[in-house]
Amino acid sequence: MKRHRRKICVAPRPHLTGRTHLRNGQPTVISELQAWWDEHRPRAGFFRTARTLLAIGGEFIRDSMPDRARQRYGDVDYDWEHRVDTTSANVSWRARFIGLLNSSYQPIESSLFQEMLNALAIDYGHFTFIDIGSGKGRPLLMASEYPFRRIIGVEFLPELNAIAEDNIRKFPDARKRCKQIEARLADATAFEFPSEPLVIFVFHPLPESGFRKVIANLVASMRRNPRPVWLIYANPLFEDIVLQSGGFRKTAGTEQYTIFQAQRSGN
Ligand SMILES: C[S@@+](CC[C@H](N)C(=O)[O-])C[C@H]1O[C@@H](n2cnc3c(N)ncnc32)[C@H](O)[C@@H]1O
Repeated sequence: MKRHRRKICVAPRPHLTGRTHLRNGQPTVISELQAWWDEHRPRAGFFRTARTLLAIGGEFIRDSMPDRARQRYGDVDYDWEHRVDTTSANVSWRARFIGLLNSSYQPIESSLFQEMLNALAIDYGHFTFIDIGSGKGRPLLMASEYPFRRIIGVEFLPELNAIAEDNIRKFPDARKRCKQIEARLADATAFEFPSEPLVIFVFHPLPESGFRKVIANLVASMRRNPRPVWLIYANPLFEDIVLQSGGFRKTAGTEQYTIFQAQRSGN
């Protein structure tokens, strides 16, 4: 498994294996802690699990220090330019804590996102764009400047998803070449991929077991209904999971991202 290959910096937390579903709809700190504990304790035992939880608590305290908060404002240029809110700097402590148990919110660097989308040799108009773990929706806004058929974001934190919806409303219509944009509040591991040609974007959205599940669901959907599918994977720490799924071949990439194309997709 490849480790840090890039400058963009969502840190992997190998001890996390990922939630399996949204319990009773809304994730809360208590429900997420319970789910995390229930998942880890049987595998790692009481003491190792408690130690890991303490380490997460320590990371949360470090992450709450003023210097870290200041660092997070480093991603704010896109917001100033477009009058939206996609920064990780003003995320509530609840969302940050739940993020540490799953995968922390960080918006994709805008120039990198553009580079990745431009690397696809496709007619965007035939494809639906999907962001798995869409956060505050920066990729949804940026994708709307391309003529995709439609755009779907999947995010499990209501706070982030509500901001994404607000951003979609605020983003000027004149910039949108695709106007059908949906920010869906859902757990990505249970997401049913629509049966149409897809460009799927993932930027370290889930811990390992959750990511495995998303890829398995995607490959099963592609087998049921073969169609052109491209997968853009930023910070591709779990690239091997995609390659071993048997559904994709790698077509391009840099230190910061990998592009995969569905096998036998016919595009
Ligand atoms: C690194 S951020 C990327 C945000 C966005 N895709 C971007 O590039 O700007 C990962 C996002 O995945 C979300 N996430 C984590 N687990 C999830 C799950 N099971 N279902 C849906 N979203 C999830 C997090 O809340 C976070 O917003």
